[in-house]
Amino acid sequence: MLSEQSAVTVRATLPAVGAALGEITERFYAGMFAARPELLRDLFNRGNQAAGTQRQALAGSVAAFATHLLDHPDERPDAMLSRIAHKHASLGVTPDQYAIVHEHLFAAIAEVLGDAVTPEVAAAWDEVYWLMANALIAVEKRLYEERGGAAWRPWEVVERVTETADVVTFRVRPADGAPVRDFRPGQYVSVRVPLADGARQIRQYSLSGAPGPDLRQFSVKRVHEDGAPDGEVSGHLHARVRVGDVLELSEAYGDLVLDADDDTPLVLASAGIGVTPMVAMLGHLAGSGHRAPVTVVHGDRSPADHALRTDHEAYAAKLPDATVRFWYERDAPAGAGTGYVDLADVPVAPGTRAYLCGPLPFMRTVREQLITKGVAPADVHYEVFGPDLWLAK
Ligand SMILES: Cc1cc2nc3c(=O)[nH]c(=O)nc-3n(C[C@H](O)[C@H](O)[C@H](O)COP(=O)(O)OP(=O)(O)OC[C@H]3O[C@@H](n4cnc5c(N)ncnc54)[C@H](O)[C@@H]3O)c2cc1C
Ligand code: HEM
Repeated sequence: MLSEQSAVTVRATLPAVGAALGEITERFYAGMFAARPELLRDLFNRGNQAAGTQRQALAGSVAAFATHLLDHPDERPDAMLSRIAHKHASLGVTPDQYAIVHEHLFAAIAEVLGDAVTPEVAAAWDEVYWLMANALIAVEKRLYEERGGAAWRPWEVVERVTETADVVTFRVRPADGAPVRDFRPGQYVSVRVPLADGARQIRQYSLSGAPGPDLRQFSVKRVHEDGAPDGEVSGHLHARVRVGDVLELSEAYGDLVLDADDDTPLVLASAGIGVTPMVAMLGHLAGSGHRAPVTVVHGDRSPADHALRTDHEAYAAKLPDATVRFWYERDAPAGAGTGYVDLADVPVAPGTRAYLCGPLPFMRTVREQLITKGVAPADVHYEVFGPDLWLAK
């Protein structure tokens, strides 16, 4: 895919670009948001920007894409592109915006690397950028077409359920009377809310119920930690949004979707609010005649913090061959483990496919344990509730 001449130049400059990624990222965003403040206000996640910890995803993925092009010139890293394209499409990213990102990313590269960016170097990285951008634009176009466009739609809150002290479920139906499209269990919607300072911020929430004909539901954990600002969108949804209010939602996106025959053994493992896509998957399995073993694994601070626990247990009970294992850091009832999830004595059937969602350290541990038990690495799928920093590595 990459021309031979550019491949030589990219290979030679990749270490320098990789080493300067932090600085490039910082200048890229600073330049872009100075020129286009509306992008920070109404499109990018300003919590991520302010926290500063998760900003390397975009530039990091360009470097990861370049590495992939050099190592596997005849293959496209479809999994990586798909994840990004789904996220972009849920945000309503448009093809013309790629020129804006290009302008500011390349200005940042030139500023940071200075004279090292000769016209030849710039041309080679330009080729990498547009290969990636055009691949993303093509996938995003298909995703939009499948969903009838990139529009935000109004949804009325018809029910608001307090799940735990920190988690609320919103059930919504189209306020414009339009039909509800199907989604695949595991997918998420973007929710866009107006904030007090006039910004409109967007966050993703996994659909937390099995696909239903008329309604959608998602469950939101209020983000509030000592010493850090409260979460803007989760705080807004908890404090202000009530039955009868209207929210703007995207269609459903996301490529962590349940993909299993009735006879595929499954592990569905979650921790904390990572339970949401797992409950949607389990609900689907319960209603679709899944026959093979399903191992349901969940870790939480306490039973009282375990959101959607009733659904979790009820759906598992409907399956002919389900094993349920819960762990709690405190107040574990009889039958549940105390402490963190530990699969050491949990049997895993041959040919198992696993779906994980939760904090990264949880997913790393569970993934390693599953692989030790013989699950193929390609059969371990995961969702990250933030920019995927596994992608950029
Ligand atoms: C695919 C996907 C699915 C998801 N599904 C769910 C789900 O089902 N349920 C759910 O609850 N969540 C889900 N999330 C997470 C959700 O999208 C939001 O990230 C979450 O609700 C927090 O958003 P917020 O606006 O409340 O917090 P933000 O305002 O974005 O804050 C995020 C963090 O940044 C910190 N921060 C903000 N400003 C600063 C600052 N100035 N300095 C230092 N730190 C700062 C905050 O303290 C907080 O820890 C999902 C995410 C993804 C990507
Ligand atoms: C080739 C160009 C681009 C690349 C390689 C790229 C890459 C990425 C990556 C890796 C993520 C994180 C995905 C995840 O794990 O969640 C991301 C998220 C995002 N991208 Fe892009 N992107 C590109 C272009 C664009 C453009 C043109 C826009 C629109 C101006 C855009 C807006 C966003 C936004 C808003 C997010 C969500 C992150 C946040 O809200 O802070 N990106 N992109």
